[in-house]
Amino acid sequence: MDGYVCIVCEKKQNEEFAGFVCPACGGNLDISYDYASVADKVRQTFCLPPTDMFHYQALLPGAVSPTPFPLRVGATPLYPVSRLGATIGLNHLYLKDDTVNPSASIKDRASAVVLRRAIDVGADVISAASTGNAGSSLACLAAALGMRAVIFVPATAPIAKLTQMMSFGAQVLAVQGNYDDAFDLSLTASREFGWFNRSTGYNAFTREGKKTCSYEIWQALDGRVPDRLVVASGDGNLLSGIWKGWRDLHASGLIDRLPKIDCAQSTASDAICRTVRRLREQAEARIDWSTIEVDQVEASTLADSIAVDQPRDGLAAVQAVINSGGEAIAVADEEILLAITEMARLTGVFAEPAAATPFAALKQMVANNTIGADEYVVCVVSGSGLKDIANAQAVAGKPVVIEPSLAAVKRALGGK
Ligand SMILES: Cc1ncc(COP(=O)(O)O)c(C=O)c1O
Ligand SMILES: [Zn+2]
Repeated sequence: MDGYVCIVCEKKQNEEFAGFVCPACGGNLDISYDYASVADKVRQTFCLPPTDMFHYQALLPGAVSPTPFPLRVGATPLYPVSRLGATIGLNHLYLKDDTVNPSASIKDRASAVVLRRAIDVGADVISAASTGNAGSSLACLAAALGMRAVIFVPATAPIAKLTQMMSFGAQVLAVQGNYDDAFDLSLTASREFGWFNRSTGYNAFTREGKKTCSYEIWQALDGRVPDRLVVASGDGNLLSGIWKGWRDLHASGLIDRLPKIDCAQSTASDAICRTVRRLREQAEARIDWSTIEVDQVEASTLADSIAVDQPRDGLAAVQAVINSGGEAIAVADEEILLAITEMARLTGVFAEPAAATPFAALKQMVANNTIGADEYVVCVVSGSGLKDIANAQAVAGKPVVIEPSLAAVKRALGGK
C-alpha cells in the first residue's frame, strides 16, 4: 500500500497515517497502491492458483508475515451451477462458495487482514460491532492467533453466531438494541479503552480482505471477466470490496474491462438500493460524491446479516454500483427464504438468508429482462445456512415422523 484516499472528499493520507477515518471530513478511507511498483509481483501471483487469500500479498496492505496464517482463509470454490441457472434461463451461472471459510462466512477475509494489521501496529485487543458474522469471524481468527477479541452484537443475533463467538472464547457483549446501537457503542468503548476496532467500513482494512474474493473468481474463470457479480449488501463494505478487487486487476493491467456489480438487498433493509435509485433519477452526468447522503431506513428484514439502518460503508457501495453500471435490487423476505431451498436443492450449497439474497435478486433481474441469457453471472454466497437454522427450517419444512416399520415408510413415501 502507499496510503489512503477518502471516498468522500478524496483527500489523501500517507502510509504512516494511524487513524481510521478521514481527518478532514470523517469519511471512510480506501487504501491505495502504487500499482506500477508491484506490477511484476502481481503478474507472478496470478500465474499460480491461490492456496489461501494471502497468496495475493502483493496487493494487500501490511508487512509480509514470517509465519503462514494459522487457518486457511479464502481459496474457496467457484461452482458452475447449470441446473440452478437453467431454472431462470441463464446459461453461465456460478456460485462463489464462501461458506467454506473457517467461521463459515466471507467475513473471515476481512478479519484476517485486520488482525494482521493489528499485529503490525502492536495492538493486543481487537473489538468489533457485528450483526453476527463479523463477530464470529473475528472470534474464530483471534482464537487461532491467540489474541483477545471484544464483540458487540445486537442481543437478537441468531444463536448459532452467538454460540460460535462464545465457543471461540471472545468477550461477547449482547447489546439491547439493534446493530446500529452496537456499532456506536463499539466505537465509543474502543476509544475509551484503546482497542483496535475492526468494525466494517470504519476500518479501511476490511475492504482489502474482501476484494481477494474477486481475484479468486477471475483466476477460477481462467482470466475471463464475468459480466456481473451479484452481492448482498448491508453496510455495503462487501460490495465495495468485491468492486475493489476488479479495479485492482484493471489498474494492474491484467484486465481491460470491468464487470457490473449488482446490489442485492431486502425490501426491509434497502438503504443502498434507495440511494442508487434516487441518484439515477437525478441523472446527473457527474456526481459530486462529497454532497451525497446515503439514505437511512428502519431495517426489519429477517436476513439478520444485512439488517442495517445506516450503512457504514454505504457511499462506497453506491459508488461501486453506479460506476460499474450495476443494478440495485431489493427483494421481499419471502423471496429470500425461497432462494435458500432453491439453491440448496439444485446445487448442494446451503446459504443463510443474506447469502441467498443475490439469487433472489437475480431472479428478479431475469424477470425484468435486465439480464441476458448468455451473460456470465456470479452470485457471491457469503455465509452458511447453518448459521440461521430457524429461518431455513421455516421454508425447508420438518421431516415426517414415523414409527420404526417398513409399512410406515411405505405410507410416508406414498408407496414409492
Ligand atoms: C453473510 C453475509 N452476507 C452479506 C453481508 C453484507 O456485507 P456488508 O455489511 O459489508 O454489506 C454480511 C454482513 O454481515 C454477511 O454476514
Ligand atoms: Zn474526507
